[in-house]
Amino acid sequence: MIKFSASILAADLSDLKTEIKRVEPFIDEIHFDIMDGHFVPNLTFAYPILEAVKKCTKLPIDAHLMVTNPEFHVEKLIKLGVDRITIHIETTYHINKLISQIKETNTEAFVTLNPGTPLNIIEEVLSDVDGILVMSVNPGFSGQKFIAKSLEKIKKLKEWKSNYGMDYLIAVDGGINNDNIQTVVNAGADILIMGYGIFKNDNLENLSRTFRI
Ligand code: DX5
Ligand code: ZN
Repeated sequence: MIKFSASILAADLSDLKTEIKRVEPFIDEIHFDIMDGHFVPNLTFAYPILEAVKKCTKLPIDAHLMVTNPEFHVEKLIKLGVDRITIHIETTYHINKLISQIKETNTEAFVTLNPGTPLNIIEEVLSDVDGILVMSVNPGFSGQKFIAKSLEKIKKLKEWKSNYGMDYLIAVDGGINNDNIQTVVNAGADILIMGYGIFKNDNLENLSRTFRI
């Protein structure tokens, strides 16, 4: 079953509740992009907006941490009730410790990597995580172009999964749209994270019906 995760960064933030309600029937979870202006060249939102989002929906929330000190934020995010925390491997020396801390609380732990970061670097944690997120754009903004080379990473992760009998999920984030969605699914994605592809899509109902199977 393919899941749709809506990245609210691409929503009309002046009317977030209406936006979430509008797409809710067609999605499975909310993707919440936290950026600090250090790890990525953009600032977004954090705790107060997260609390507001939680009041708007019962859907699971994935906090994608694009910050230089993820360890500062894990405890608070868990306390606020996120369902998944996604950490960039580039942002910590202690990924194993962070994964354990997240999983101890029954929160899902995903690890992610930038398009330029080689996949081998996450090999050691594959058996510990609930999922790997392949970044298919350089993190920082919604509405960027899908980097085609990411497909190789998705395929490799799928291959490793079956070769080593592991059960992590494969998520993909950035630039997924009506035109490339089928290719991303064919490569092996389980979770499709989409900003523009969901909030600025006139054909969302059809797309959701076709792919959330
Ligand atoms: C990029 C973010 C993505 C982004 C996805 O830094 O992590 O989640 O909002 O938006 P689209 O699908 O528009 O590329
Ligand atoms: Zn994201």
